Amino acid sequence: MRRLLSVLLVMLLACAALVVPGHAGTAREVTYDKYSLMVNGRRIVLQSAEFHYFRLPSPELWADVMEKFRAAGFNAVSLYFSWAYHSPKPGVYDFTGVRDVDRLLRAARQAGLYVIARPGPYINAESTGGGFPAWLKTVPGRARSSEAGYQAAYREWLHRINPIIARHQVTGGGPVILYNAENEYQVNTDAAYMQDIQDQARADGIDVPITTNDCCDAGSWSSTWATGPGAVQIPGVDDYPQSFECANPDLWGPWGEGLTEKLRDDIPVFAAEYQAGAIDLGNAGYDRCRELTGPAFMKFFYKNNLIQTGATMFSYYMGYGGTNWGWLAQPNDVYTSYDYGAAITEARRLTPKYDEFKRQGYFLQALAPLAKTDAVTSPATPADAALTTVARANPDTGTQFVLVRHTDRAATSTDGTTLDWAAPDGRHQVPVRVKGRDAHVLVAGYDLGGQRLAVSTSEIMTHAAIGGRDVAVLYGPAGSPGATVLRYASRPSVKVLEGRVSATYGGGDLRLDYTHEGLARVLVTGGGRRPLLLLIGTDEAAARFWRAETATGPVLVRGTELVRAAAQRGDTVSLAADTVAGEVEVFAPPQAGRLRVGADEVRVTRTASGSLLGVTRGPERAHLPALTGWRAHAEAPEAAPGFDDSGWTAADRTTTISPHQPKTLPVLYADDYGYHYGNVWYRGHFTATGSESRIDLNAVTGLRGNYLVWLNGRYLGSAAGGVEADSGDQWTPPNPDPGPGHFDIPAGLLKAGADNVIAVLVANMGHNDDWIADDLRFKQPRGLVAASVGGAVGGAAGGTPVAWRIQGTAGADRLRGPLSTGGLYGERTGWHLPTYSDKSWKPPAATLPPGVTWYRTSFRLDLPKGHDVPIGLRFGGDPSPAYRVLIFLNGWNVGQYGADIGPQREFSLPAGLLAEHGSNTLALAVTAEEPVAGPGPLGLFAYGNVRSGR
Ligand code: GAL
Repeated sequence: MRRLLSVLLVMLLACAALVVPGHAGTAREVTYDKYSLMVNGRRIVLQSAEFHYFRLPSPELWADVMEKFRAAGFNAVSLYFSWAYHSPKPGVYDFTGVRDVDRLLRAARQAGLYVIARPGPYINAESTGGGFPAWLKTVPGRARSSEAGYQAAYREWLHRINPIIARHQVTGGGPVILYNAENEYQVNTDAAYMQDIQDQARADGIDVPITTNDCCDAGSWSSTWATGPGAVQIPGVDDYPQSFECANPDLWGPWGEGLTEKLRDDIPVFAAEYQAGAIDLGNAGYDRCRELTGPAFMKFFYKNNLIQTGATMFSYYMGYGGTNWGWLAQPNDVYTSYDYGAAITEARRLTPKYDEFKRQGYFLQALAPLAKTDAVTSPATPADAALTTVARANPDTGTQFVLVRHTDRAATSTDGTTLDWAAPDGRHQVPVRVKGRDAHVLVAGYDLGGQRLAVSTSEIMTHAAIGGRDVAVLYGPAGSPGATVLRYASRPSVKVLEGRVSATYGGGDLRLDYTHEGLARVLVTGGGRRPLLLLIGTDEAAARFWRAETATGPVLVRGTELVRAAAQRGDTVSLAADTVAGEVEVFAPPQAGRLRVGADEVRVTRTASGSLLGVTRGPERAHLPALTGWRAHAEAPEAAPGFDDSGWTAADRTTTISPHQPKTLPVLYADDYGYHYGNVWYRGHFTATGSESRIDLNAVTGLRGNYLVWLNGRYLGSAAGGVEADSGDQWTPPNPDPGPGHFDIPAGLLKAGADNVIAVLVANMGHNDDWIADDLRFKQPRGLVAASVGGAVGGAAGGTPVAWRIQGTAGADRLRGPLSTGGLYGERTGWHLPTYSDKSWKPPAATLPPGVTWYRTSFRLDLPKGHDVPIGLRFGGDPSPAYRVLIFLNGWNVGQYGADIGPQREFSLPAGLLAEHGSNTLALAVTAEEPVAGPGPLGLFAYGNVRSGR
């Protein structure tokens, strides 16, 4: 019964969630002018957050993230679509399971979000190959150009993905409102290519405006390309003013002011990717990235962009970052976690950045005049010259938006001052206080529901008409003074229900003066208008509010961890909310006297504010088992001379289409033999003359990669793999001679006149991006690029002939996709899979030998039902640079751990991959470069625990 009730509630709330203005499931037209986008003629301020479904391989959690976006006032989600994620080889595409983008787009609509669809073909520098499948490295024709081979390949991708996107467009009742072609493409590179992407999209049924995101302060799009071939309808600009040095979160705009350029007079200003987090270039950890791009940065830069620039289209990168699980990461800039220091953490938890998005996002959605503004001379002059203002006004309503900033960005505090404000309804002297690195958007001349707001030095978070009265939430920094002036035909009655607020009336103006402290409540009635409940709080108090739309109008909620949706039926308000123990207060029409939160009836009292006040229950405790019973097994039989490699692929090619030619023949590039992701093995047979003294190898792996070498079963050592060079030919061979990669053959090991076997295990860490569209970086090979046996210094071509074979990933794992599994023996034989029996394995030894050792254990979970308890795996102790660990949860490669891999010690185990009620298998593949104590101790932990409103 309880279950039935909650199913019914969720269904009811799902319907309610769809009641999004201008987004109700019927065909609509998307247009734009110089001010804003419009849907069926109705202006919208587009407030979008970036989300990558391929970084969250749990489709049931996609809706969770998008509901969290919606609850913060976002009305759109920006989605890259990753070609690499869907295509294991040419002509083969998979859109099922974790790759079911139809489901993704349905979930976006269900969450009430528009979608900016970004299918590339090139997408994101931090994903392997920049989103290009690695098989593209073996296709002739320069990537990101009109050249034939590439053209056929990308058209194949577009003709698969475009029709899916097309059937979810706003014009057909779906959520897709914009189509983003390519990514930070400098149009002057190849206009025909840029044009063809758009032609293909149109041919595939895309009929919403096409946009693109230009890099680096408007790059090439502002000039002739704005209208020539290749031009898109609404070009936008990417801005990352804080850069990516998270170790120094005190930085302030080293990459500029972050004002998004207006590219053309006939289009709105579109902040196509605006910084909302950072990659962790210095391995400082993502919490530092969250500081670098925290609320102070958001307040200053985002509000500047809104008022100084007049942007009405924003997409914040990232709203939720996720995980570079499997081999998804581009190797040079990122490690497993792609948390990004975003507002929502990798484990889907909300942060103070989320609160700031909510304060700003609610404002954008509530104040319709914001969608059409012109820059005006500021009508508000601060008495203290330390403050400056800029302003915009809506030409139809006259509503003014004034941005107040402190000129000294380092100023941590400041005395209050006065604004002399020539507002549409008269001139006012109002108190204001703004410190450095803060900015307030203040409003004057605004029809706030049934009220007339003359001016306020509090910021407006939101307002709603509820039960015949207006309820407005205003806020300001704790301790700062504020004044709000409202117009009335006659003296209204003012009742201060809570807090300290003084009221004066004269000349039609009701003036309220106060200090922002806690949450003040003022009820204004009479005066010729419908009643108004003003809730005036600090930033923190405002962030406790949620707004949800129901079929019978909006409700406001104070408290709970997250309100996903609300419904009203008869005398009952029902909330789909995430909760811990705490107060919940609901502002709903007066007929509502009862409150349900999830399946719970919450006992409520009616407050003096007319709201319902109750208390939610705390979550049940989640019991997490200790990880015990580990069993281990050494692998790498490939290193043994007698191993049968006759089934391996002969690596005997003498030519490659790669723009990088090998240093020795044959060509040993893994991609040329169809092995694209994860580890690859090579075995080279040679008949020794007896005079060979050394083996010279050179492998390119991407940053953090290495290779291990055996001769006739004896381990010779390891070396770091080559990485992308910063400049030049992009692949300067990494190993000078003498140095790593050159192995002396120990006396007595060689068998003259007989078969000798070199075995090499190469960790391919992923593929370079193609950010600058030069093809060379992306097509940098992976695997061995030079190999010789002999004595010649430098390992030059020549020496004793070697017959090579190569082995990588076995077949396809349909469920997990092309990026999950590499070519370790254990992976090829299923040691990572839950179905594998490890009964014959032994308890782990204290020390690991060089090579590969696997560990396995299983554990049962039974997390409290109806709760959201995100679980992680934590490595205790200090990692050794001598090993690297692949982590498999129920067969899914969820990450990589090691001192050389990155600072990460905790790995997210997302529900879906994790059985929350049942048995789970963990498998670790540890590659050790020298005898070393194994990793650990390992334990499970909970990132949080709430009763879930889903
Ligand atoms: C942009 C790019 C994004 C991402 C971001 C940095 O240039 O378009 O995909 O790479 O930089 O995180």
